Amino acid sequence: MGSFLVCYGTGEGQTATVATRIAETLTERGHDVTSENADEIPSDLLVDDFDAVLVGASVHRGAHQPAIREFVRSNRDVLTSKPTAFFQVSLSSATETGRAQAAEYVDMFLEDTDWYPDRIGLFGGALRYSKYGFLKRLMMKQIARRTISEMSEADASGDVEFTDWVEVEAFAADVAAFVEGRLGVTSPAVSESELSE
Ligand SMILES: Cc1cc2nc3c(=O)[nH]c(=O)nc-3n(C[C@H](O)[C@H](O)[C@H](O)COP(=O)(O)O)c2cc1C
Repeated sequence: MGSFLVCYGTGEGQTATVATRIAETLTERGHDVTSENADEIPSDLLVDDFDAVLVGASVHRGAHQPAIREFVRSNRDVLTSKPTAFFQVSLSSATETGRAQAAEYVDMFLEDTDWYPDRIGLFGGALRYSKYGFLKRLMMKQIARRTISEMSEADASGDVEFTDWVEVEAFAADVAAFVEGRLGVTSPAVSESELSE
């Protein structure tokens, strides 16, 4: 089966959790998955050693993690030569009205890095008031009020998660199927479920 690299950037851990769920879905389909936080990539890791690469980042103040931008820029040529996917975690994706803004963040990132992945996933993030300091909490309440005004939970001071895990798993399965098609392999998990139908 295929070898996948999942490289992600994260602030309070939501994108790390999304990356873990994606890695689990790929592993269940029989693939080898290596998951790395962009801030801690081992110096001997070679992107070219993988059949496919997924890159994930969250949006903080309208931008993605600098380490992710750097990862994509410095591996752009090798990424362009492989099946790739990008996933983004943001509050904007948590509402209908924020979706255009979420798509704009992605467009800016792709233009900026000049990298155009085969698949793109946009997921709602989380408000982690319990992890924010005083100033960040104040700022996030303002951002939440502006971004997700139609959601009453946004006014709560407790943690709120907007990630749709079914969407995350569907995205991972779609990327896996795309890569399997490119590699000319069939996931044993998929053949078993087809046999039992
Ligand atoms: C300081 C800060 C700034 C943020 N700015 C934005 C923003 O500009 N647009 C947006 O859609 N979401 C914004 N968010 C929401 C995050 O994208 C969301 O909380 C996400 O779950 C963070 O994922 P992470 O924990 O992996 O970093 C911001 C969050 C924080 C903490």
